[in-house]
Amino acid sequence: TNVLFTASECTPFIKTGGLADVIGSLPQSINKTTNSHVKVMLPLYDEIPDHWQTRMELVATINVPVGWRNQEASIFTLEHNGVDYFFISNDYYFTRKGVYGYYDDGERFVFFSRAVIEALPYLNFTPDVIHAHDWQTGLVCAFAKILQPLENLKTVFTIHNIRYQGVMPHTMFGEMFNLSMDHFGGMEWNGMLNCMKSGIFHADKVTTVSPSYAEEIKDPYYGEGLHSLLQERSEDLTGIINGIDTNDYHPLKDPYIVSNYRHSRGKKKENKEYLQEVFGLPVDGEKPLYVIISRLVEQKGFHLVQHILDEFLQEDVQVAVLGTGEGEFEGFFYHAQERHPERLAVRLTFDEKLARQMYAAADFFIMPSQFEPCGLTQLIALQYKAVPIVRETGGLKDTVQSFNEITGEGNGFSFTNYNAHELLEALKYSLSVYHNPIQWIQLLKNVNKSQFSWKESATQYIHLYAEFETANIYSQG
Ligand code: GLC
Repeated sequence: TNVLFTASECTPFIKTGGLADVIGSLPQSINKTTNSHVKVMLPLYDEIPDHWQTRMELVATINVPVGWRNQEASIFTLEHNGVDYFFISNDYYFTRKGVYGYYDDGERFVFFSRAVIEALPYLNFTPDVIHAHDWQTGLVCAFAKILQPLENLKTVFTIHNIRYQGVMPHTMFGEMFNLSMDHFGGMEWNGMLNCMKSGIFHADKVTTVSPSYAEEIKDPYYGEGLHSLLQERSEDLTGIINGIDTNDYHPLKDPYIVSNYRHSRGKKKENKEYLQEVFGLPVDGEKPLYVIISRLVEQKGFHLVQHILDEFLQEDVQVAVLGTGEGEFEGFFYHAQERHPERLAVRLTFDEKLARQMYAAADFFIMPSQFEPCGLTQLIALQYKAVPIVRETGGLKDTVQSFNEITGEGNGFSFTNYNAHELLEALKYSLSVYHNPIQWIQLLKNVNKSQFSWKESATQYIHLYAEFETANIYSQG
């Protein structure tokens, strides 16, 4: 099966979040097999570093109809790690600083979605399937259905986070594309154009990034207004867990960390002592170290942390925090650090190198999300033998099992309700296990066995694409 991925970000070119990691690593895994072949299409942001841009070759320049005037777009290409990438450039929409955050973001990605469709005849590659990701490319699925640019073209739409939907006045729709209002039903939501809904409604198959999240979003609490539609599409909706690039995130090979290791606790202590120095915390390899590495936003559960951090810091522990985000949480951590200088250290920034040094140093990784489609950082934590402490939601529920001292099972700690005291209890329980050598060794054994490479998930995607072929054979009689 030939598959064209399309998305708004992708490592190593441009990244703001976990979506970029997925688009950057899943195609490589799929292309290692012979069953499917993936190419990837992205916007050409100015922000993409020059050393990539100078490697790109021009494929074609095309016209993209956007109602009020035609926009010119150029298609560029480059190859990297066995994957061909296409980039769509446009002087008006993508020569700006950064990636998102403009008043006309909706229009920018509606344009991009339409350009993906218009570019198809020029690629020297005929996709059987277009696989679109998140709201920015939701309309690709709608256009593929309505305009039928290729015979038998199928679409898959993957939801990475249903909270962000790309909602804008529907007048843009009529003006930009001169499509009749008949098509509007599947794209309209409370009188607005909704790109996330368009993808879910029009795609042949819908996936999301964990089995638990696939169930949760059919419920009003998690569905962000789209739960009924997801119930209707239930038969075509599946959850496939994300992997991580286990070659890149590997404590034995990671060039950023001071002492490389596979399982050794002694080496981990060296990383811990180094980090304590960097963060200005008392240096003591025996002290249990908890870390938070996250965007500081509500989704990640910081309202819970706010309630119980002072109480938890009565214990003889250290907590190190790295991240940027909402002012409320940045302010909270900043002031909490002043109250607990010996136990809490905070860096309000993002720094990939420091993040990896923290995974390597940590005994525990705290991630009490309100909702979590998959979550990648808890998987990285497991890779670096930092024990995750999570709320049982979405991908966290599917990747972390709470330690059970009676059966000896479990690779982390978890709690059920979005409740600060349940988090505090989980934290205190983790500390008691840390101080019980028999339980602690058992827990670390389980952590060592946890594996989250892409291999198995890539196979599930390949099976999904193959279902279309089977369906085609039947329909051709
Ligand atoms: C979004 C989700 C996160 C998921 C990532 C990649 O960032 O919030 O849970 O891991 O997408 O699918």
